[in-house]
Amino acid sequence: MSDAEIGLIGLGTMGAALALNIADNGFKIAVWNRTTKKTTRFHEDASDLSDRIIPTEKLDELVAAIAKPRAIILMVPAGDPVDDQIAALRPLLEDDDMIIDAGNANFHDTNRRAQAAGELPFLGIGVSGGEEGARFGPSIMGGGKREHWDRVAHILTAIAAEHDGTPCATWMGDEGAGHFVKAVHNGIEYADMQMIAEIYGVMRDGHGMDHPGIAKTFAKWDDGPLKSYLIEISAKVAAAIDPETGYPMLDVIVDAAGQKGTGRWTAIEAQHLAAPVPVIEAAVAARNLSSQREARAKGEDLFGSAPKRLHDGMLPHDTLESALIAGKIICYAQGFGMIHAASDQFGWALPLPEIAKVWRAGCIIRSAMLDDMASSLADDADRNLMFAPHFASVLKNTHTALREVVAVSTTHGLAVPALSAALAYFDTMRTARGTANMIQGQRDFFGAHGFARFDGRTDQHGPWEG
Ligand code: 6PG
Repeated sequence: MSDAEIGLIGLGTMGAALALNIADNGFKIAVWNRTTKKTTRFHEDASDLSDRIIPTEKLDELVAAIAKPRAIILMVPAGDPVDDQIAALRPLLEDDDMIIDAGNANFHDTNRRAQAAGELPFLGIGVSGGEEGARFGPSIMGGGKREHWDRVAHILTAIAAEHDGTPCATWMGDEGAGHFVKAVHNGIEYADMQMIAEIYGVMRDGHGMDHPGIAKTFAKWDDGPLKSYLIEISAKVAAAIDPETGYPMLDVIVDAAGQKGTGRWTAIEAQHLAAPVPVIEAAVAARNLSSQREARAKGEDLFGSAPKRLHDGMLPHDTLESALIAGKIICYAQGFGMIHAASDQFGWALPLPEIAKVWRAGCIIRSAMLDDMASSLADDADRNLMFAPHFASVLKNTHTALREVVAVSTTHGLAVPALSAALAYFDTMRTARGTANMIQGQRDFFGAHGFARFDGRTDQHGPWEG
């Protein structure tokens, strides 16, 4: 019977959760996995949803089970497996059947796949929210032809998270636009996480606080302007106890961060776009350095550990909270700046306020602040978010705290690279007369590259000697 409204390939953690979400929202879905055992088990475990799930053992059975024109979601690992799956699937499909890549693809790959698809319907959608989000409501960032998005929008909006009744599923633009926005989301995710980890370090090593105390502090901040999923889970992570040893979980977790590479893509792309995201870059670098555990231990042996412990009264909790608020605004200003630059570069007209809205629920970086960001960007999407009246006023009240945290941490040897990068960006962006005149002088000195003068003349050269 060809009556499934949609198909899904790949029943890994995210694929399985997404398939259940689709069935749970009343849509009949046909599923297929490379190993049939997984498909069978998935169907058995789906209990009361199993009526709406059609398990299939072969690709052509999957295709035959879906009503025309078909739509099939791919939830396979990013990279070659997506190309392989498309190559296996396309010959079985008709011209108006649609393939939807819902994995964490590099948007350049999505651009290429969309171009290769030509008139054949193809969407690349970024799905955020981890397993829980995929199962009960992710944030969805769509890319591809608008008419193709419209064909499946009723399903994607039904399964997405909602913020005050508005579904967090939006079409972002052609080709890889959805995966591009998802990459920036992940870059911001890295930066948000890193800044929280740096403040955690100040509390742990600077203040000598125990984990329950740190957990309480994060939980308190989750009731204020920092209210967000990442602050909420940081409180929970800090409070958790290892059932095996009875120690705080954070005392048994190795301090070397993993990564699948999406944050790195964002940092690299920002460089190509000349739209710097130094807070995200710092976060990516910090993850890489965290993995160099042996080298760090060697460094500590060689140079001794930094003093770290702060005197009483230094960096009160309110100051730490304000520093995080400032860092977060600055980081998002960079992220949205990068999206704005990509819009120009790729001709996408990316809807900045809508992007802030789609991140308000379901995704990993969801936070109370995104609502105000959506309003500020709606007023003037071209402007640096730091200059929007609401955020300018918050920054005026918090940037001194950011400076204090960076300054005191630095003099005490507490590494705060992402917060430092945020402060340096802030200082750079409020300095009308910078120091690049020296760079221009140097360039002209050694390479006759020319410079502009304040009197308006361009391509000038200096009277350099020797
Ligand atoms: C999301 C996340 C997710 C990402 C993981 C792991 O939005 O749901 O961004 O897509 O894959 O968070 O990412 P790293 O392994 O790179 O930390």
